[in-house]
Amino acid sequence: MKKIGIFYGSTTGTTAEVARRIAKVLGVADADIHDVTESAPSQVAPYDVLVLGTSTWGDGELQDGWMDFADGLEELTLKGKDVALFGCGDESMTDTFCSGVGELYARLQATGARFIAPFNTIGYTFEHSKAKPDDALEAVGLLLDEVNHPELTAPRIASWCTLILNQEK
Ligand SMILES: Cc1cc2nc3c(=O)[nH]c(=O)nc-3n(C[C@H](O)[C@H](O)[C@H](O)COP(=O)(O)O)c2cc1C
Repeated sequence: MKKIGIFYGSTTGTTAEVARRIAKVLGVADADIHDVTESAPSQVAPYDVLVLGTSTWGDGELQDGWMDFADGLEELTLKGKDVALFGCGDESMTDTFCSGVGELYARLQATGARFIAPFNTIGYTFEHSKAKPDDALEAVGLLLDEVNHPELTAPRIASWCTLILNQEK
């Protein structure tokens, strides 16, 4: 059984709550859910699968708490680890929806991690996101909008977690 760790950054608690919901579906214990502001990047070491979550702030930026943690993570070799990204945003910010997720994806490219569980964006209504090339159907991870569409979060989490669990069987 591969060991899954969840690391999240959250300003008003939305991504933190979503992290706990994802943990339940994936069967991840509380001890393996980490707030990035209270963790060191070296704490990713014991995990085979890293589930990384960020909200988006400013004009499409990574959530503040992530800044130092992402700097540290970028310096590590994550070869052999799988990374699944998720994020919370607001689709009414239609040019930067969940762009923080794309920011993380870009910043971790050099680590050698394998990115898993891209997520289909059919049914979403945003125009642009750093988390999705304009001509692609899939975002690099799970994008959630708890502001406008909280009712879609549970089914989206369920489908996305199935992708992860199937991959890691
Ligand atoms: C000032 C401000 C800027 C925001 N900028 C963006 C943005 O560029 N893109 C986006 O998708 N969401 C944006 N959001 C929405 C937040 O990402 C969203 O409310 C999210 O659920 C917050 O999650 P958190 O509580 O985990 O930080 C913004 C919200 C505020 C208040």
